[in-house]
Amino acid sequence: MLPTRRDLRFKLTPESVRNWHAQGPQVAHFFNALSIFFPTGERFFINSVRQYRERVTDPELQKAITAFIGQEAMHGREHEEYNDLLAQAGFPIHRMEGRVNALLEWGKKKLPAISQLSATIALEHFTAIMADRLLRKPDMIASADPRMVALWRWHALEETEHKAVAFDVYRAVRKPSLKNYITRSSGLLIATVIFLGFAHAYQRELVNADKTIGKWDGMGNYLRFMFAKGGFVRDMAGPWFDYLKPGFHPWDHDNRHFLAEIDTLIAEAKRFDMQEAA
Ligand SMILES: [Fe+2]
Ligand SMILES: [Fe+2]
Repeated sequence: MLPTRRDLRFKLTPESVRNWHAQGPQVAHFFNALSIFFPTGERFFINSVRQYRERVTDPELQKAITAFIGQEAMHGREHEEYNDLLAQAGFPIHRMEGRVNALLEWGKKKLPAISQLSATIALEHFTAIMADRLLRKPDMIASADPRMVALWRWHALEETEHKAVAFDVYRAVRKPSLKNYITRSSGLLIATVIFLGFAHAYQRELVNADKTIGKWDGMGNYLRFMFAKGGFVRDMAGPWFDYLKPGFHPWDHDNRHFLAEIDTLIAEAKRFDMQEAA
């Protein structure tokens, strides 16, 4: 199954980013924090796959890489617009993006290319299991703003569609061995610690910068969202650990049935695009 680059625009409005999540501002700022990582993070993913591209001989995988790069570039563009709206609403987004960028630029200069690819496939796994949860439990992104819902669902669907591409590049350039298993699994451990550290710190920073809410407003909902039975952390734990199985492949989690939703989503995005033009 080949992923497809889709040039969709969701045309978020300034209202879209204002306390947009049905479960309150703490949850909204958790997703806003994720949005801050995407443009720079996805550029890093693209770069780490490109570094190995010429060593990939399978023409199908070459086509998948082209689509992967195209999809991540489109995600970056839409999340940049999202982040710009947050900046216009008074959040110190560009400073926060700058810190993520500095870390990733450091990684690009100092880490061996294989470690960069290992970080990429680990974070793609993380993204894929978040996407799977979002598609399984649509209330994860419940909002009165249909553009926001559509943007997150589109991103989740395309992350699902291309979830194995970077992983397959890793497999194509590194044959199975204990050393490569260690590189891959340590990548997940390190990437998870850094990613969760940033996600938590950025969620708090956004809450503290939000002058329209108190620091603890909606905290009960947020803790339930994160830690309750059936919540984010407990749902993510099993699929996260699966990555550490020696023969793991992203399509071991076969959730391709969700991809049937893409056509509906394209129609919806086109409507948003036209609405603004009208
Ligand atoms: Fe993406
Ligand atoms: Fe991705």
